[in-house]
Amino acid sequence: MKTLSITVLVSGGGTNLQAVIDGLADGTITNTKIAGVISNNPGVYALERAAKANIPSFVISPKDYELREDFNLALKEKIDSLGTDLVVLAGFLVRIPEILIDAYENRIVNIHPALIPAFSGKGYYGLLVHEAALKRGVKLSGATVHFVNKDLDAGPIIAQKAVEVLEDDSPKTLQRRIMEQAEWKLLPEAINLIANGKIRVENGKVFIER
Ligand code: GAR
Repeated sequence: MKTLSITVLVSGGGTNLQAVIDGLADGTITNTKIAGVISNNPGVYALERAAKANIPSFVISPKDYELREDFNLALKEKIDSLGTDLVVLAGFLVRIPEILIDAYENRIVNIHPALIPAFSGKGYYGLLVHEAALKRGVKLSGATVHFVNKDLDAGPIIAQKAVEVLEDDSPKTLQRRIMEQAEWKLLPEAINLIANGKIRVENGKVFIER
């Protein structure tokens, strides 16, 4: 089977990128290579993680383009030029352009720090997701890895994992527990399943061959 070439898109600390790098090193993810890392923010720690792992990295920021269309095109062109089979959104907090979604149907995965459809969609990203979960008083939250389609956080769900919410949680402690117990496992596992041809999407649902 052909090696899956992935491009990882990041905006911040890059702990999910690190989980993918580690997963490749320890054999949790097979048949896969990281072609490149793209950040919309210069100077973020995710870029250092890429450098330490000898992965080429690029900054493509909407702020550097007068027209959003030009940013969208530059992003797509970079992803294309890396020979990308699968785009991995690992804490990428920029809305994915439709031209990319059209060109990479069921070939873009995202990790979201809640149990979709809870705390998802417009305005729910990063710590805001955990603030909302604590405000609502849910006893369980978690993470979801899913394919990206035109509706925000609403593409076919690949895997989810629930994580307990504790009474004394702050958004930060809850975020950390969800990362440790759910995100850093789900994302590498999903990539591995895709790389090994175990995932099929039919009528908006994901079927996994075990
Ligand atoms: C992660 O919790 C990820 O699930 C979330 O941003 C964080 C990035 O952390 N993504 C979203 O909220 C997307 N809607 P990281 O840079 O350490 O991987």
